[in-house]
Amino acid sequence: MATVALVSRPASVLPKVSSSLSPAIAAAASAGQQRKLHYAIIPQGKGGRSSASGIAATVFGATGYLGRYVVNRLGRIGSQVVVPYRCDPYYIMFMKPMADLGQFFFMEWDPRNKDTIMKAIEHSNVVINLVGKEYETRNFGFDEVYVDIPQRIAKATKEAGIKKLIHVSHLNADIRSSSKYLRSKAVGEHAVREEFPDAVILKPSDMFGKEDNFLNYFAGERHWFGDTVPMIDLGKKTVKEPVYVVDVAKAILSAASDPDANGKTFALVGWVYSAFKMLEIILPSPWQYIVCTVLLSLSLFCT
Ligand SMILES: NC(=O)c1ccc[n+]([C@@H]2O[C@H](COP(=O)([O-])OP(=O)(O)OC[C@H]3O[C@@H](n4cnc5c(N)ncnc54)[C@H](OP(=O)(O)O)[C@@H]3O)[C@@H](O)[C@H]2O)c1
Repeated sequence: MATVALVSRPASVLPKVSSSLSPAIAAAASAGQQRKLHYAIIPQGKGGRSSASGIAATVFGATGYLGRYVVNRLGRIGSQVVVPYRCDPYYIMFMKPMADLGQFFFMEWDPRNKDTIMKAIEHSNVVINLVGKEYETRNFGFDEVYVDIPQRIAKATKEAGIKKLIHVSHLNADIRSSSKYLRSKAVGEHAVREEFPDAVILKPSDMFGKEDNFLNYFAGERHWFGDTVPMIDLGKKTVKEPVYVVDVAKAILSAASDPDANGKTFALVGWVYSAFKMLEIILPSPWQYIVCTVLLSLSLFCT
């Protein structure tokens, strides 16, 4: 599987995340310096799920695609994890065997209610924000999901005296982007930095893995167009750097345990493919593309 390449934007300023797990101990020590350490999170043991990693993490957005991998990785090294959720408890049952008994705490939260955020983080030394939505809903627009909620979490983390905040953004987050999603992601990064200058900001590209919305999307899309995928210029000019979701989860753990990561921004990408090459791998035969340039020019001409 492709390893995570930590690519700089610009190249010189984004450093590498250390991948060793041993600094977890150092992190635990550094993460909770000014707060009372409960004896249950004092690092001990051989590093498996029955030991104590020293990490007590609150993972907002744990019920999502990336969240389950992060929670799994935290559980298997013996961390305590608070999982705030807003869904039916049935949908979080699968997480319970990911750690030793009593290591995961599930609690309902409301992102608009500061008290529930404070309650979720009060016993943690690491806060991870994975809250996200690919589309706007009637109740939550992109601005609230990617700017207001991260800002509230960052503010609460600071007030609680926690030293480690990890915020997940997007590789292409850019205030000048034509995508509202990516614009609000960029504003969110800025808001988090303002509230919590030491936050670690991770910017993954499209994530792939089992149950992803990326490769599965392309694999499923061909049903819409009679077993073909529409592509502008055959996808030869479109560059993709998909990153394996497990590698992103590992990067989050490394960032949680590495005190040097504080205050830095990391880009998480995999190998570079053209969209054409990528679809060649996904689709069984090369005739399953439609060149969209003509269709696009026609639609532009008509508007
Ligand atoms: N997937 C990718 O390829 C990709 C690439 C780059 C960056 N990212 C970023 O990485 C993060 C995690 O992505 P993901 O794919 O794991 O997302 P996801 O599967 O959609 O999960 C998002 C999580 O956020 C929660 N959430 C969404 N809206 C919420 C709200 N208004 N209030 C409270 N909780 C809310 C969801 O809870 P519910 O289950 O209750 O809705 C879920 O737990 C996101 O910030 C995303 O933008 C993802």
